[in-house]
Amino acid sequence: MTQSISISTNNPSETEALGEHLGRALQPGMVVALMGNLGAGKTTLTKGLAKGLGVTDLIHSPTFNLIHEHKGRVPVYHFDLYRLASMEQIEDLGYEDYFYGTGVTVIEWPEKVLPLLPPDHLEVSIAGEGDRRMFTFTATGPLSASALKNITKD
Ligand SMILES: Nc1ncnc2c1ncn2[C@@H]1O[C@H](COP(=O)(O)OP(=O)(O)O)[C@@H](O)[C@H]1O
Ligand SMILES: [Mg+2]
Repeated sequence: MTQSISISTNNPSETEALGEHLGRALQPGMVVALMGNLGAGKTTLTKGLAKGLGVTDLIHSPTFNLIHEHKGRVPVYHFDLYRLASMEQIEDLGYEDYFYGTGVTVIEWPEKVLPLLPPDHLEVSIAGEGDRRMFTFTATGPLSASALKNITKD
């Protein structure tokens, strides 16, 4: 079984299209962890992902809010933990209701809450330079493996 695949993009709209494809591959209850530096393309990918799940809201980087909740075919919980100051802060948010909820959870800066991530999540690491980005999708359990399978199915 394929546990990891890489797909590259050459501009932001290709990344958004990849995100949309990813969104359509996801099921309720899945958690997507987006790893990559500032400017890697996490929010751009999330824009497409949300679109793929039927969200019509504008997706942007949550600046002061650590989480934005969107209504789609399934709810999309978009976390940006860049400004997370402590573990207490994420506990106060009631993160379990999202991470183990009925929607799809997308997390920017998941490194900040690594011990709290559900063991089965889809890890997406983003690397690149210039306008090229390489997205590596890794499944860590059966649920994320089924998403990975859907991504490759086309
Ligand atoms: N292939 C690409 N995919 C995504 N973003 C790209 C790409 N090439 C250049 N960019 C630029 O990189 C930046 C990505 O921003 P953003 O998605 O907000 O990153 P992050 O959320 O990881 O900080 C944008 O300024 C975008 O125009
Ligand atoms: Mg971002």
